[in-house]
Amino acid sequence: MEKTLIQIKIHTFSVLRILYIIFCSLFNTEQKQKFFEIGRIAAKRSLKIEIPVIELGEIARIGEPIELLEPRFSDGNVSLFELVCLCSLTKKYAPQNIFEIGTFDGRTTLNLAANAPKAQVFTLDLPRQLLQTGAVKMSEGDRNIKFINKEQSGERYRGTLQEKQITQLLGDSAKFDFSQFVQKMDLVFVDASHNYENVMLDSENALNIGKKGSLILWHDYGVWEGTTKALNYLRKNDSRFKNLRLIKDTSLAYLIV
Ligand SMILES: C[S@@+](CC[C@H](N)C(=O)[O-])C[C@H]1O[C@@H](n2cnc3c(N)ncnc32)[C@H](O)[C@@H]1O
Repeated sequence: MEKTLIQIKIHTFSVLRILYIIFCSLFNTEQKQKFFEIGRIAAKRSLKIEIPVIELGEIARIGEPIELLEPRFSDGNVSLFELVCLCSLTKKYAPQNIFEIGTFDGRTTLNLAANAPKAQVFTLDLPRQLLQTGAVKMSEGDRNIKFINKEQSGERYRGTLQEKQITQLLGDSAKFDFSQFVQKMDLVFVDASHNYENVMLDSENALNIGKKGSLILWHDYGVWEGTTKALNYLRKNDSRFKNLRLIKDTSLAYLIV
């Protein structure tokens, strides 16, 4: 009986492999991306929002002036309302030290710096060179690749008044040495790879580098499967994350540690 089951499993695996090879040979990269996108939309529909929702007005001072720079949205950025939330929270908490995991084009980095003009902002990003050298393993169709594959990290803060506040760090957050930042950050923004394992690691590092009473924010909860599952898991199973909240009408998760 057991032998038959093993044979069935091997058989199923072989059939799936053959189907995948046929799929790869029949369709070009663009068509394959479309298939992956359909799969992702189906996966997104099944995402469970378990984190309690909170209004921005309950955690920030609405009406207080904020700096809103580079408002134009590019695919990969936070939405305009999410940017307003990040700016309002930065104004309220007046952080001295900020760490962003996942720079992309630097639109959020710039706004964090502009709303905390006395702060030092550290921003870590995976440059595309690390993908090309194969230093970071990613499967074909991984949506993160699109945002890693860019000319430069942080182009939108370059040449601005805020640039002097910003330190660009390059590397893989899963391997990065955070030791010099431990318990020094007042605000941490997690928005790098959205794969489950990466979000778990980035979340642990975020809490380690955050001071007591610091503000930790994540992007793409309820939108990306990995981020959603990781934060749902952490809230249920790790008491340090039990007070996670989702800011209403956004995909920003919020925690004071
Ligand atoms: C969605 S974008 C970040 C958007 C940005 N925070 C904003 O608000 O506009 C994700 C970024 O994370 C970076 N990234 C992906 N995997 C990473 C990793 N393992 N370590 C560090 N950065 C990573 C990508 O290069 C990309 O620039």
